[in-house]
Amino acid sequence: MKLRVLHLEDNAADVELVRSMLAQGGLDCDVLAVNSGATYLAALQQAQFDVILSDSNVPGYDRRAARSAAHERRPGVPFIIVSADPEFGDGPGGAEPDGAAACVPKSQLQQLAPTIRRVVPGAAPGGLDAAAAQVRDLERRLAQRTAELERRTRELEVLNRELETFSSAVAHDLRSPLISIDGFSQVLLESSAAKLDETDRGHLERISLSVRHMHRLINDLLNLSTIVRAPLRAGVVDLGQLAQEIVEELRAGAPERRVECVIAEGIKVQGDAGLLRLALANLLSNAWKFTGSRQQARITFGARTAGEGRDVYYVRDDGAGFDPQYADKLFSPFQRLHPQTQFPGTGIGLATVQRIIHRHGGEIWAESSVDRGACFYFTLAEGA
Ligand SMILES: Nc1ncnc2c1ncn2[C@@H]1O[C@H](COP(=O)(O)OP(=O)(O)OP(=O)(O)O)[C@@H](O)[C@H]1O
Ligand SMILES: [Mg+2]
Repeated sequence: MKLRVLHLEDNAADVELVRSMLAQGGLDCDVLAVNSGATYLAALQQAQFDVILSDSNVPGYDRRAARSAAHERRPGVPFIIVSADPEFGDGPGGAEPDGAAACVPKSQLQQLAPTIRRVVPGAAPGGLDAAAAQVRDLERRLAQRTAELERRTRELEVLNRELETFSSAVAHDLRSPLISIDGFSQVLLESSAAKLDETDRGHLERISLSVRHMHRLINDLLNLSTIVRAPLRAGVVDLGQLAQEIVEELRAGAPERRVECVIAEGIKVQGDAGLLRLALANLLSNAWKFTGSRQQARITFGARTAGEGRDVYYVRDDGAGFDPQYADKLFSPFQRLHPQTQFPGTGIGLATVQRIIHRHGGEIWAESSVDRGACFYFTLAEGA
């Protein structure tokens, strides 16, 4: 309901203030402001109001005159004094002089809307109307957002399906020509070895090597997309024990290396054992690989509890390190900072680790500087 308000007030700023306080208080009002006794009386004569607000004095006219005119011409319409006068400073529910239904000090205008609701029959439902309108507005916006989210989800589903189709196309359509190239270059190498000179043979071997590298890239890419989609099998995982096993495998592969491995014990988390093993294996084998040029290296796996925050797990090494400005890029597929000849790899390891950590509700980041080692930190979901 729109509340019809007659407001006797000679100060234009106060008129505006009252209007905005009514709106802020959730009242939908139609305010007619008058600034003199004559215009007030004319308004009373001509129109119906639900409530009358009156300053204590306007030049040549005061609240008593205003109150009795209202009583006479519009009996039953609540009359509220809105005054700066400290005499009426008790606030709503305080003194109600001169037969006014209430008075509200100008210093407490936020009380005006509740006071009107209290004294004007039908204003409360008006307030409810405003609240209901707000609820309707919120519902409408929520419905819009939900529709938008549903649309985006559908788009993502389509994109995902396209990506899967693309992956299998890569798998089947790209793999078979690669196999042919590899096969025929092998045949050439073997059957025509005598006819080829050293340079030709070198070229053929390079073709073969590149083809095999591309094979690995395709396989890694496909594995990565499988990791993103495979359902998680959660259970209790002992990260320390996994790290220990991985380090033993790395040692077995390069027994001549002198690497001190410090692995924390008793780090138990919730997660998919297979995936977490793959993540740790990638981080530890990077640490192993990038300390390859050190006479004596040190690799640490541990956890630290960051106050009330989540536990942070880390793999640290004292190897080649990297320029920290590229720290974020490393988690994208095929991003490598070191030459293939010095540290071989396809550049898919950290992208895989990041997918696994994200699937566990965690984050991963790195700190490093060139020649001063690297440290990879990760978290897992709360309570993991
Ligand atoms: N511990 C580390 N120390 C220094 N640089 C690192 C370390 N870990 C990763 N990097 C840098 O990040 C790049 C990407 O790492 P990522 O594990 O994804 O690929 P990769 O080890 O080169 O190949 P892949 O793991 O696929 O065999 C590496 O090539 C290297 O430049
Ligand atoms: Mg790697």
